[in-house]
Amino acid sequence: MRVTVIGTGYVGTVTGACLAYLGHRVTCVDSDQSKIEKLRRGVSPIYEPGLNELIAFAKDRGGLDFETDLELAVRESDVIFIAVGTPPLPSGESNLSYLESAARGIGASMDPSRFRVVVNKSTVPVGSGNLVEALVREGISDAHPGLSDRIVFGVASNPEFLREGSAILDSLYPDRIVVGADDPATLETMRKLYAPLIEQRFSEPSFAPRPSHLQSGPKEIPVVETTITSAEMIKYSANAFLALKIGFSNEMANICERVGAEVTEVMTGIGLDWRIGRAFLNAGIGWGGSCFGKDISSLLHTAAEYGYQARILEASLAVNRMQRGVVIQKLQEKLFILKGRTVALLGLAFKPNTDDLRDAPSIQIAEKLIQMGARVRAYDPVAMDACREQNPNLRITYCDDAVSAVDHADAVVLVTEWPEFTGLNLKHLAARMHKAVLIDGRNVFSADAAREAGFEYAGIGRFAGRPVAKPVPAAVSD
Ligand SMILES: NC(=O)c1ccc[n+]([C@@H]2O[C@H](COP(=O)([O-])OP(=O)(O)OC[C@H]3O[C@@H](n4cnc5c(N)ncnc54)[C@H](O)[C@@H]3O)[C@@H](O)[C@H]2O)c1
Repeated sequence: MRVTVIGTGYVGTVTGACLAYLGHRVTCVDSDQSKIEKLRRGVSPIYEPGLNELIAFAKDRGGLDFETDLELAVRESDVIFIAVGTPPLPSGESNLSYLESAARGIGASMDPSRFRVVVNKSTVPVGSGNLVEALVREGISDAHPGLSDRIVFGVASNPEFLREGSAILDSLYPDRIVVGADDPATLETMRKLYAPLIEQRFSEPSFAPRPSHLQSGPKEIPVVETTITSAEMIKYSANAFLALKIGFSNEMANICERVGAEVTEVMTGIGLDWRIGRAFLNAGIGWGGSCFGKDISSLLHTAAEYGYQARILEASLAVNRMQRGVVIQKLQEKLFILKGRTVALLGLAFKPNTDDLRDAPSIQIAEKLIQMGARVRAYDPVAMDACREQNPNLRITYCDDAVSAVDHADAVVLVTEWPEFTGLNLKHLAARMHKAVLIDGRNVFSADAAREAGFEYAGIGRFAGRPVAKPVPAAVSD
């Protein structure tokens, strides 16, 4: 099929490359010329493991082009995806201006030569399916006043559930595909588009191997066909629930610290109950990223429009806001005065395997520390260029590696659990520091190992009084 994807960000680039890898002929369109130029050179504008390789493969399969001009791409397409940003406004509402401009542009580019489906992949407030339809119609009647009745199209909502950092695996082997549409022709087009994915009829790329549960047993990906409104609600409910699970772990962690329990043990203890599940029960310094905060705020806003106060969602945001302050509290407990201290941050990205800094806890922590008179040194394997570019006024000293970041520091904070940090030689780190304080914001280190290495250690929700296991002296006899 011929496909256009509008928006070459984290979602659009991966969607376009995956659909082309499945054999569709895809054109990705973005209004940002510099992104398109990079993509034409085969370089992804975002860091996502395997994406450059997938783009190269996809070009040879179905075909993958990158354009700034929407018109030709839409005219030649059967399916047009909208994957533009929907960032939050100060009021908590989603900014729909990018969506509106994309939908109008689609309408203006249509002609009566074929039936097309406009698919909304951006996360949009409930009811936006209707808005997209209305805007496409407006675009049609503004550009082709005489042809309005002859131009036919359908609208679908196809929310995206990929996780940055494992976006290709999530897109090629999704848990489910949700398609909201109100007419059979649209649903049929979507089924045809996704058939190779649903039936897993493609060879696995070497850098994104098929997971074992899809290699044996039933191999079909479940498809959830719903109304457009339900599909839009599914996306918000999913993110609200995931954020709630993390927030719940953080709340339990804060209680664990007070009563002398170990949150990692508690979460394992409850997570083995299949009704609860262990995933997303890791206590830490709060969730971040471009989606959870904006989606919960948007859902709260929608609920309020209908006269409903969503108290669980409010609490979820409040708990997360509070958790962001935990690092500063712990640093104050260990160092007392932060003015004049040097604090090293390990990790800046909001989570590992991405360069995304949107709503990243690291930025808030750095800002607060600087405001309190501390000096901040930082190292992140991929997000330092993005951080420099997006926060030119943030006075961080960027370092070449974790070891140089902690040099002569008074404390080190593990902010992002990049795999390379878990293998660090703690003894070596502690020896280079002025004061060996380790705030483990993601509970990745063994508290005992950190203390044995010479650190004053604090994790999140971990039992500070847990004794360090002493080796039994070899020559002890009765
Ligand atoms: N990032 C994620 O992990 C994720 C996951 C699921 C859903 N989503 C949702 O997907 C949507 C896109 O998110 P993202 O992270 O990819 O955003 P992004 O900001 O990385 O990318 C959006 C892109 O759209 C382009 N754009 C904006 N208006 C345009 C227009 N009129 N024509 C052409 N291009 C235009 C921008 O230049 C940008 O490159 C959002 O609604 C988001 O909530 C994101």
